[in-house]
Amino acid sequence: MKGIIFTEFLEMVEERFGIEILDELTTHKGKGCPMSFTSVGNYPHQDLVGMVTVLSKRTGIDLNDLLTTFGRHLYSMFQKKFPHFLEHHTDPLDILEGIETVIHTEVRKLYPEARLPHFECERPDKDTLIMSYSSNRPFAGVADGLIHGCIESFGETVAVDRQDHEVESGSASTFTLKRTAS
Ligand code: HEM
Repeated sequence: MKGIIFTEFLEMVEERFGIEILDELTTHKGKGCPMSFTSVGNYPHQDLVGMVTVLSKRTGIDLNDLLTTFGRHLYSMFQKKFPHFLEHHTDPLDILEGIETVIHTEVRKLYPEARLPHFECERPDKDTLIMSYSSNRPFAGVADGLIHGCIESFGETVAVDRQDHEVESGSASTFTLKRTAS
């Protein structure tokens, strides 16, 4: 997984939970040496899962809530670092509908080594979007946070219903978005 995802996660941990917890998360148990991540590296996603699990135990905050908080944080980072993918849009549902066919398609060209999740979208009407997410990683919570981050950046009221599906590995969820006011 791209190092930028790790460095953003660690930035969020430092901002919200402080340097002491950050050090605990990045110190290998037993080995005593710090794990280091750079934004241009690539690392196993299991390292991120490991750090979120330790953070959840250390803070008592539910794992899914931490992933969702991280997803919101990631969205604001994407807005700052990749504004050209987002700025010509006026409707968050249009952005989210194009995540697979537009945004992540461009991301694949920029970073061929990225292993992006899969989204299938249906748009029954202008105010409704159904997103089927699947990934070989357990990051439905990150998707949840990114979706909310996108909606909130437009100040819109959109109800998001999430149904998680049982899968042998990774994760799969259906998000149904309904705009209630615009
Ligand atoms: C400018 C906008 C965006 C950019 C540049 C971007 C780029 C990326 C990159 C580089 C990764 C890491 C993949 C890897 O390291 O293998 C990623 C992961 C991910 N992206 Fe996006 N993304 C954007 C917007 C979104 C939005 C709006 C969603 C909302 C649905 C989304 C959903 C995800 C999810 C859920 C992951 C985690 C990986 C997984 O679930 O397997 N992204 N994205």
